[in-house]
Amino acid sequence: MAEKKGVILSGMRPTGKLHLGNLFGALDNWVALQEEYHCYFCIVDWHALTTAYEDPYSIKEDIRDMALDWLSCGIDPEKSVVFRQSDVKEHAELHLLLSMITPLSWLERCPTYKEQIQQMEGRNLATYGFLGYPLLQAADILIYKADAVPVGEDQAPHIEMTREIARRFNHLYDRKVFPEPATILNEYKVVPGLDNRKMSKSYDNVIEISISLPEIAPKVRMMVTDPARIRKSDPGNPEVCSVFAFHRIFNRETLEELQENCRKGAVGCVQCKDFLAGYMKQYLEPVYDRRRRLEKTPAVVEELLEQGRRKALQVARETMEEVRSAMGLA
Ligand code: TRP
Ligand code: SF4
Repeated sequence: MAEKKGVILSGMRPTGKLHLGNLFGALDNWVALQEEYHCYFCIVDWHALTTAYEDPYSIKEDIRDMALDWLSCGIDPEKSVVFRQSDVKEHAELHLLLSMITPLSWLERCPTYKEQIQQMEGRNLATYGFLGYPLLQAADILIYKADAVPVGEDQAPHIEMTREIARRFNHLYDRKVFPEPATILNEYKVVPGLDNRKMSKSYDNVIEISISLPEIAPKVRMMVTDPARIRKSDPGNPEVCSVFAFHRIFNRETLEELQENCRKGAVGCVQCKDFLAGYMKQYLEPVYDRRRRLEKTPAVVEELLEQGRRKALQVARETMEEVRSAMGLA
């Protein structure tokens, strides 16, 4: 195998089963990156606690689901380090030490902070932990000296802040301990939900990655088509149809033909949906099979996370020695 190009770290908050929006918005990018980089993929349970602290008891199950989703989509523990944030306490130590050098204003003016506090009305997020969310994220990234971080656009300000913190640290202690990580914006594939809005758990319009094959066709039947099309012979507009958006992702064979036939009124929506369900089954079958096989071994997640913990810990410990020494704590 060719020499790998550098270190990548990314993370996800365990908030329940992942859906196809997560697969095509993030996970498939990760799967591709693991061929070329040393990858660390972190299940960030402390980050989940920043908003779920009042009712944290499902996080444990969510971690298991997330690990199974990752593995079944092709994250490979032989190629990548898969681990749980709270298993490597060094993240917390680095978070603490970085908090000494982080101006409060950097955190307060972070765009995601104000937005989320407004969105999550009804929950008390005026906490120290929530304000420090991006700093904990910076610690996740810097402790592995990541060269790049693949994330969605919404996370770009956090990676920017991570670079500023790395720069400030290196400057203050006159040592180049941390590289400034680049942002890799996830290639954005639009995945609409069943109702043609963005696929999101809060809209209740998702298809889960772990969907079983017999459940696919009924979900597809629920998808919204071109609302102006009443009879089969009416010309349709694939651009406004969520079924067609899914064809773009899953259908490698008859996409153009179908588009034309829809426009001419030569294919009915029922048939078009049947085709789609067929392509989706083809694509998701190996994912589903892998998950079922994994679920048969109850300890598979524990073993995965234990192996990941050991590998991550080794690197995190080395970095912390450097950090302590730079800060006069050695
Ligand atoms: N904040 C990220 C999100 O909500 C999750 C996350 C935590 C993360 N630590 C990270 C992402 C480190 C990338 C790198 O999506
Ligand atoms: Fe959508 Fe297919 Fe119906 Fe056209 S034929 S409106 S693409 S479901």
